[in-house]
Amino acid sequence: MKTISHFQKLKNSNEKIAMLTAYDYSTAQVLDKIGIDGILVGDSLAMVALGYENTYNITIDEMLVFVKAVARGAKNSFIIGDMPFMSYNLSLEQGLENASKMIKAGASAVKMEGCNEHIIALIKRSVESGIPVLGHLGFTPQLMNTIGGHKIQGKTVNQIDKILESAKKLQEAGCFAIVLELMPAEAAKYITDNLYIPTIGIGAGKDCSGQIVVTDDILGKFTDFVPKFVKKYANLNEITLNALQEYKREVKEEIFPSEKESFELVIEEKVKLGAEIC
Ligand code: KIV
Repeated sequence: MKTISHFQKLKNSNEKIAMLTAYDYSTAQVLDKIGIDGILVGDSLAMVALGYENTYNITIDEMLVFVKAVARGAKNSFIIGDMPFMSYNLSLEQGLENASKMIKAGASAVKMEGCNEHIIALIKRSVESGIPVLGHLGFTPQLMNTIGGHKIQGKTVNQIDKILESAKKLQEAGCFAIVLELMPAEAAKYITDNLYIPTIGIGAGKDCSGQIVVTDDILGKFTDFVPKFVKKYANLNEITLNALQEYKREVKEEIFPSEKESFELVIEEKVKLGAEIC
């Protein structure tokens, strides 16, 4: 079973950290099998698995269903539950209570977006209470409305310094790693080089300590929008479409099910059934 020290060990030995998202049991099983360094049950599932327009509508109770499914599938992996919008922003008590629900559901850690006094205090209390926290800076989808949309962050030295300042605060508060989303590669490298905890990049270039992407994006399964930083390793949407079209055709043409996929009555019962029909 991996722990937070696995992440620090990889950073210290200059080995890149490979992380992916999972929302369901069978994907979690595959990620467990390949020994992925960490699995994030991201609130991106609001769009990818539930069809919401953004991450605002997903609740802690909905997230817990997916965390439990992933925990059942990935017995040896380090699972991080993403704290959804407003499930940790109201008070320390609310944040701690919901973070503890994630751990009870099978997560080993939680992820929280942003850096303000409340978040810092909550990270400290969570870590003191035995709940490891992954920070998240740069583009933070839960703050999209105040940021003003999907915008690349850290485009000026001033902005980069501000992100680094926040990253240092998260580090001091006890985060075991920080996700850096949507920023120039040089900005992410500068921030990474000035922290002792690992950074996990998404759309932040190659010099972070590790990378995370949405699994459904790189498998070509989710096609509503494909960010520039996504590399497709498969086209599951096309494969699924072709396979299901073939199924539909075979049912219509009475090719499926064939004898191979059917069960037979024993001879005596066949005879009886034949007599009954006559
Ligand atoms: O919700 C999510 O999937 C994320 C990303 C960092 C992958 O937050």
